[in-house]
Amino acid sequence: MDVLDYGCGTGLLALSLQPHVRSITGADSSHGMLDVLNVKIKKFSLTNVKTLFLDLESDVTLQEKFHLITCSMTFHHVNDPFILINQFYTLLHPKGYLCIADLDPDKGKFHSSKEGVMHFGFERSSMRNLFVQAGFKNINETTVAIIDKDVPDEGIRSFSVFLMQGQKE
Ligand SMILES: C[S@@+](CC[C@H](N)C(=O)[O-])C[C@H]1O[C@@H](n2cnc3c(N)ncnc32)[C@H](O)[C@@H]1O
Repeated sequence: MDVLDYGCGTGLLALSLQPHVRSITGADSSHGMLDVLNVKIKKFSLTNVKTLFLDLESDVTLQEKFHLITCSMTFHHVNDPFILINQFYTLLHPKGYLCIADLDPDKGKFHSSKEGVMHFGFERSSMRNLFVQAGFKNINETTVAIIDKDVPDEGIRSFSVFLMQGQKE
């Protein structure tokens, strides 16, 4: 598979997938994050990983197509999730997969600073609807992680992370 990991950050997910795929592009709108990933690519002499500065909310010029697009813990930072999901649909090969992992509704408690946080998690039914509207089929969702965090004045609180996946026709 040729994979796009969108909002890759420092490459935690991209580097886990790397041994299992033909190529993986780590895309992010932060040069700082991509710099860290580039250091890892060089350190481990990875030949099938590349980085790309990209913000698909404003940039529609990417010409490549992918068999799989992953996006982990990035959607809550994005202004308009539907724009991105549509963009992802266009960037997939026929039968390609989209996998988005993000927080269930968290009442704004997951992040101690709200700067850059556009959504306090997502209702799974709303995310599913966006997949449907964009044209995705075979949509499935599951809980993939529980993150325990210390929340001021509350103590340790558990935040669940869903994975929503869909397939292009
Ligand atoms: C919480 S980090 C998640 C990083 C990584 N996916 C992970 O799971 O470890 C969110 C990432 O999304 C990136 N990001 C935020 N808005 C973005 C956008 N509109 N386009 C691309 N990347 C974005 C940030 O720069 C950051 O690296």
